[in-house]
Order: sequence, then structure tokens, then C-alpha cells
Amino acid sequence: MADYINEYSMHTATCGELRASDDGREVALAGWAWHTRDHGGLIFIDLRDRTGYTQIVVDPDCVSAEDFAKAEHIGREDVLKIDGRVRLRSADAVNPDMATGEIEVLASAIQVLNKSITPPFAIEDGIETDETTRMKWRYLDIRRPEMYANLQMRHTVMQAMRRALDERGFLEVETPILANSTPEGARDYIVPSRPNPGKFYALPQSPQQFKQMLMAGGIERYFQIARCFRDEDLRADRQPEFTQVDIEMSFVTEDDVMTMMEGVLHEVFEAVGLDLPTPLRRMPYAEAMDRYGCDRPDVRFGMLLHDITDIVRDTGFKVFASVAQAGGVVKAINAKGAGDWSRGDVEKLATIAEANGAKGMAWVAFTTGGEEKSPIKKFFTDEEWAALKTEMEVEPGDLLLFAADKPEVANAVLSALRLHMADALDIPRDEHALLWVVDFPMFKYDEDEKKYAAEHHPFSKICDEDMDLIEGEPLSCGSYAYDVVMDGYELGGGSIRIHDPEEQRRVLRVLGLTDEDIDEKFGHIIQALSLGTPPHGGIALGLDRLIMLLAGKDSIRDVIAFPKTSSASDPMTGAPSEVTARQLKEVDLRLL
Ligand code: AMO
Ligand code: AMP
Repeated sequence: MADYINEYSMHTATCGELRASDDGREVALAGWAWHTRDHGGLIFIDLRDRTGYTQIVVDPDCVSAEDFAKAEHIGREDVLKIDGRVRLRSADAVNPDMATGEIEVLASAIQVLNKSITPPFAIEDGIETDETTRMKWRYLDIRRPEMYANLQMRHTVMQAMRRALDERGFLEVETPILANSTPEGARDYIVPSRPNPGKFYALPQSPQQFKQMLMAGGIERYFQIARCFRDEDLRADRQPEFTQVDIEMSFVTEDDVMTMMEGVLHEVFEAVGLDLPTPLRRMPYAEAMDRYGCDRPDVRFGMLLHDITDIVRDTGFKVFASVAQAGGVVKAINAKGAGDWSRGDVEKLATIAEANGAKGMAWVAFTTGGEEKSPIKKFFTDEEWAALKTEMEVEPGDLLLFAADKPEVANAVLSALRLHMADALDIPRDEHALLWVVDFPMFKYDEDEKKYAAEHHPFSKICDEDMDLIEGEPLSCGSYAYDVVMDGYELGGGSIRIHDPEEQRRVLRVLGLTDEDIDEKFGHIIQALSLGTPPHGGIALGLDRLIMLLAGKDSIRDVIAFPKTSSASDPMTGAPSEVTARQLKEVDLRLL
């Protein structure tokens, strides 16, 4: 019996637990009427709760006339209490696909605890109902077994995470939701403060500053399952509010943080029945960009990027030669198995390339019949062609796709094409693959804003040997930052932090802040660093992404009980909504 059932419960068993060994047991079950069938005199009801379902048989000879009449009018999702006796099904009625398929419960009394109106969609797995409808009636959606399984998985992961961190001496500390802006790169959600007219809190994009303050406070090992808020463009793996497993440690190096994280992830995987071999592979950022075209490589398949700039530097194909001579790169991938695609299908791929910034997408198809099809072959010398085929390890059946551009664009284009081709060619990616990406640069140049920005965040520490480059050549500065990548998603990221106040100022100055700005926005951090903050570092894992991947889903919305739509609204509660004129006045605001 489920251990939450006791003498005060309305039921004595759950709908998923009864087996042949329970034959003859008198039980009370409570749950939802799932499917009902009227078989000429006998009524069958599948009674469902979160643990599963049991077949109930209502026989007019075994219940009162009044209860039989109730059974005849039971509708989908009515809430029922059934008293009855467990009995074995006849051999031909046993259902091997159903956990309780050996038995049924012969009803002796039926109580309708609550009638349901007709639900707007079926409470079944695999429904095609549009997501906004599912979100408007999310409580019905959550009744579907696959959604319950996702939330159950989330619970298991969170409990395992807490246990593993507790065992390692981490203290769970909560930090404020009404906070000040933290620079994680997104827009803030802001909240007006009534007692401080004209002033606003920012909801935390992460607890970054607070966790560093906890290190200054001597907590040494902190964690929090922390809600974070970011007003950014939403995608399948991004929500405006999401959950991080946020971690910070004092007196540590990068290795300590990574080893700790691997140990914790190993235990979490174990809790959901998976093995995670550790230590995880570590790939330098430069290699990830060069071979996979992105900093979150999906290493479960090859199709790596090849740099062919040197081969085509003087080629007659001017698009390539001019890019190569202007300091750009020419790169290619080999999609094995697509060599017989039609010209039309290949050329459709150019839309993916263009969506990622490409000016065109040259290609060469090597058919399984030995033909070489390409609009660009005629421009190549025999030597260039042979060198290209050797570099790309060409065999019949291969399709080469090219990008010639600035390195960032060529990488983005081929990274997108690589992932698209893996889907299109059904390359198996069933196993999980985790790795570290390490040796990140400290800064990047923001072309739109025309200024330097932190690649991770401005509290990450610059590699000691690069400190002298910070003012002159910031883009050459490496940092002690690392990301953990799972199945091509950025699962988490962290760094060793700056603990020297002057070093912190120098980094903030590169970002374009004046000393006054620094004192105003980050004065508390600089102060803390001047008051005995120990060397420290940490990491934050995206909990929703981890659970999405473990549950084999494509969207984090499927593993969040009450997620938001792509326009950051909640169709169930109607949030965000208007406020009254009085509420606005109280916080000294007027709408334009
Ligand atoms: P970062 O910004 O990389 O680092 O975030 C850490 C992880 O949080 C997840 N994540 C998200 N998940 C869902 N929706 C979002 N909008 C979203 N944004 C981020 C990702 C990401 O890897 N304070 C630093 C961590 C540190 O330095 O310790 C931070 O927040 O999985
Ligand atoms: P064009 O001579 O411009 O018609 O281009 C010939 C082929 O090269 C076409 O298949 C284009 O899509 C492709 N192409 C053009 N520009 C690029 C580029 N920057 N990178 C890769 N292929 C390109």
C-alpha cells in the first residue's frame, strides 16, 4: 500500500497498485473516471489516479439500484470513490500491457465525489491538442500520465540533487527575489517599490551577487534551487522564469568545482536509473568553435567542420578565394548519406544557412553511383579538387556543404546545418553525452552596442598570465570559466571569481563603466572584496534543461508545472494583467 494512505484516507489502495496477490481484498479506491464501457448490463470503468488505473466492474447484482443508475451516468473525469472486492480476471481478459491487468475490482458501492463537465481535451498521452489550450487548462494537462511522469522525474532529480549537495557539506540558503540588477545579459523584470517612489527592484537573473556575498560571509559551501527571471526572447529551452541549481564554493580551483559537479550529476543520473561515466571530457572553447561551430557541441555524432581556407585560397571560385584572401574562413561539413539528395532538396538547405547569416551555400554531391554534382566544381583545378576530397574524406554518397565568411558566421551556419542534417539523416542520438567546455575568453565585442561585453559575466577571473593584456588586448584574455554541455544544450556554466577589488574594477572598466558607475552599481561587491572575501568559484545548472533532457522532451515547458507561452503569458491565470488606477497611484506610476 502506498505509504501516504492511512486510516483517515478516503481510499485504502491506489489505482496503480493492485496485483493478483490482492485477490479477494476489500478495497476503497478513489480517482477519476477515465474510460467507461457499457457491455449490456455490466458497466466497466477505468478508474485513474496518478499511480495508474484499475478496471472497475459494476454488476447490477452486486450494487444497489441507485448506485447502478449512478454508474450509467458517469462521465469522463468525474471524481469517484469505489468500494469493492479485488478479483482475478479470467485468463482471456488479462491485459499484459496494464500494470493492474491481472485483476479487476467488483464494485459494491459507488460515490460520485464530484461531477465534471466535459473536458476541453482528452486526458490521454500523445494528444495533439495545441499547447496554449493545454496551458489554459494546465490542471487537466497534468492529469495526463506523461505529464505526471515529467513532474515525478523533476521531483526525483531535485531530491537527489539536494541529497548529493547536503552530503558534500553545502548549506541551502535562500536569497532575495526583490533584488537589484545582476548583469547576466538579459533584460530585467522590474518591480516598483511603494515606500520608495520612483525606485524599482529587479527580479534576480541569477543569485550571482548574493552567492558571492555568502562566500564573503564565510558560508564556504552554498547551494540553492533558485528561481531566476530573465526578460529575453523565449525559445523551447528558455523561459522567463526558470530554475537553477546554484552553487558556490570557497578556497577552490576550477578542478574542484568541476569534480564536485561531476559527482553530484553522477548521483542524480543514478537516481533516475542512468549511469554517467566520469570524469567528463574537457574540450577547449577554441576547439568547440573550430570543429563544431558552437560552444555547446553535440558530440554524439561526427560531421565535424573542416577548415579548407588554405586549399581554396587561390581557387578560381571567386566567392571562396576573396573570402580567404580577406582574412575570412572557408569551412565545410560532410553529410554522409545525403549524396543522392535532389538538387532541389539540397538547395532548400540554403534557407537554413541564410537564416544564420550566410550569403549563400555552395555544395557538392557525390552520388552513390559515382557522379560528382556541383555548381562550383568547374572553378577548381584538379589539384584543388583532389585536396578538397582528401581533407573531407569523401566517399560515394557524401554531400559537402560550404560556408565562406567571417569565422563567427561560417561557424554559426555550419553548426546549424550540421544539427539539421543529423535530424534529416536520422543519425541516432539516443545516449546522453556530457562534457565540459573550458578555456573561455573573458570578453567578446558587441557589434551592436560597439563595446566589450563579458562572455560569461564580469565577476569571472581572468587567467593570471593574461592579466597584463586586459587594457590593451581584452579579446586575448582567457578566463577561468567553464560550461557543462549535455546533448548539445548548455546545461550549466560557472567560473572562478575575481576576489581582488582592483582586478574587479579593471574588468568593469573594460566594459565601459566609469569609476562612478562602478561605485554606484557594484560598490557593495568592491567593498566586500576589500573586506576579506576568500578566493571562490561556482556554477549554476539549468534544472529545467536537465530534466527536459533526462525526460527525453523537446521543450522545458513540458517539465515545468505552470510554464509561460512564447509571449511570456500564462493562459490559465491570465497573467500578466492590468492593475487598477489606484494600484498605479500607490507606486507613483502613470501609464503612457
Ligand atoms: P548562466 O547565465 O549561464 O550562468 O545560467 C546558468 C544556466 O541556467 C540555464 N538558463 C536558462 N534556463 C531556462 N531558461 C532561461 N531563460 C535560462 N537562462 C539560463 C542554462 C544555463 O547554463 N550566475 C551564473 C552562473 C555562475 O557563474 O555560477 C549564471 O546564471 O542551463
Ligand atoms: P554565386 O557565384 O554567387 O552564384 O555562387 C555560387 C555558389 O556559391 C552558390 O551555390 C552560392 O549559394 C554559393 N555561395 C555564395 N556565397 C557563399 C558563401 N559566402 N559561402 C558559401 N557558399 C556561397
